[in-house]
Amino acid sequence: LTMYLPVRNNSMGVNFANDPELRALAAQINAEQGPWRAAPLVPGAAAGSAAPRTVTDPADRRRTLGQWLDADDACVERALGNAVAAQPGWDATPAATRAAALERAADLLEQRRGAFIALCVREAGKTLPASVAEVREAADFLRYYAHEARRLCGAPIALPGPTGEQNQMHLHGRGVFVCISPWNFPLAIFSGQIAAALAAGNSVIAKPAEQATLIGHAMTRLLHEAGVPADVLQFVPGEGATVGAALTRDARVAGVAFTGGTDTAWAINRSLAARNAPIATLIAETGGQNALIADSSALPEQLVKDAIASAFDSAGQRCSAARVLFVQADIADKVLTMLAGAMAELKLGDPGLLSTDIGPVIDQDALDVLTAHAARMQREARLIAEVPLPAACAHGTFFAPRAYEIASIGVLQREVFGPVLHVVRWQADQLDAVIAAINATGYGLTLGIHSRIDTTIERISQGVRAGNCYVNRNQIGAVVGVQPFGGEGLSGTGPKAGGPHYLQRFMTERVISVNT
Ligand code: NAD
Ligand code: ALA
Repeated sequence: LTMYLPVRNNSMGVNFANDPELRALAAQINAEQGPWRAAPLVPGAAAGSAAPRTVTDPADRRRTLGQWLDADDACVERALGNAVAAQPGWDATPAATRAAALERAADLLEQRRGAFIALCVREAGKTLPASVAEVREAADFLRYYAHEARRLCGAPIALPGPTGEQNQMHLHGRGVFVCISPWNFPLAIFSGQIAAALAAGNSVIAKPAEQATLIGHAMTRLLHEAGVPADVLQFVPGEGATVGAALTRDARVAGVAFTGGTDTAWAINRSLAARNAPIATLIAETGGQNALIADSSALPEQLVKDAIASAFDSAGQRCSAARVLFVQADIADKVLTMLAGAMAELKLGDPGLLSTDIGPVIDQDALDVLTAHAARMQREARLIAEVPLPAACAHGTFFAPRAYEIASIGVLQREVFGPVLHVVRWQADQLDAVIAAINATGYGLTLGIHSRIDTTIERISQGVRAGNCYVNRNQIGAVVGVQPFGGEGLSGTGPKAGGPHYLQRFMTERVISVNT
């Protein structure tokens, strides 16, 4: 084993058992309750569309949080022009200066975490612990890629000169990078993509998810304040099908960092390929059909605790979430009884309350998809448990978490992006068939294993194609630099976010040979 140890610490969290710390945080959060405003941040462009969009709280749709403006065609065009003009200067800026701006942003983000936690809770419906984790992860990405920029771009790489020449490799940004992010990690993934692209010397056009525009706007302004020039990082909000598509079909774009659904990644790939332009880099991190396999040596209490966290944390709106629990038949009845009991303890409600385990789903569209899935499961599966929705959830987009027993993973044709756990029983002689069925989905993001048998752990972890495998723990919450994150197959192109090979994909290599 070779150890890769960057000189850098991960961001500290909040000790929720420490009363003064908690009260100080609550005061910070409560001071930041909107109304929030967002608009394109594109130097020289007029404000976006005439009709502002209203943002409501997913936990209580009667509550208005703020408004934002779309980027129109002229704004998109202006952003592309600015980005092309600004990139060479940013690329020529010493890597240490670029890194220092990102590190300043991480410091500012931690100092003002109350404001960003408030936005994660209100706009994205994330619980308090998940929102704290989101701020930490964003700060971690900023510092990690700053560190990587210093490591990789600080000085040219000296190469051998066997023929008497002096050879050096220089790393540069590729040009204009478009960063397209999802709503479910509205701060961490938004910041991570941008930080990597900027650290590598690219100019960036950031297209946030429609549902997370207010957070993206606040973070872009913070990065500007930290020293990233306004034309080097521009914020271009709007619909994916219009603004996102306009950006990814433009010949001036050198690369796209995308995180979101697999279907969207295909659309972007097609759009980039159809251009009469240099072949663009596409880094796509997409969905999963994530399995958790438990054999009869698993400890039921630990398995159930980890399955609950893996399936239901963040209302199941994590790409890493466990979607199918494969449990060996010998322990299945006991595990399912315990699962139903543990689910009955889950508290749904306002994500701003520390007592809440599960908040709302992001919007009505997400709720409709989940409701349709539940109707299908009612016909085709056996309900194991359903958490009742409390009255306090009546005005939000909440979906009652459910667990279903199904015949096989093949029953699920698509990723079910919400708090639904599916369970499949397997017999002792069926482990290879289980592994084959998981691989047959074509996805390969996370994998959980619960077993006390080393050879079984090895067989599963080597047999299932998945980017991140977790043994005897939950399978969510990858830590930057510790568990570099990303999948394969339908789950993404790699390289892994928060890992030592990520930044290179945003760069181009130039070799200079001097005849001395
Ligand atoms: P989505 O694909 O609907 O949207 C993601 C982004 O793409 C948004 O900004 C959207 O506006 C934009 N977009 C949509 N259509 C576009 C187009 N034609 N051209 C350009 N941009 C377009 O995904 P979502 O609903 O925001 O996020 C949930 C999905 O993201 C899930 O599938 C989840 O598994 C995945 N995800 C993956 C990871 C990972 O690291 N692998 C992390 C988080 C989320
Ligand atoms: N990185 C996120 C997790 O591991 C998606 O849950």
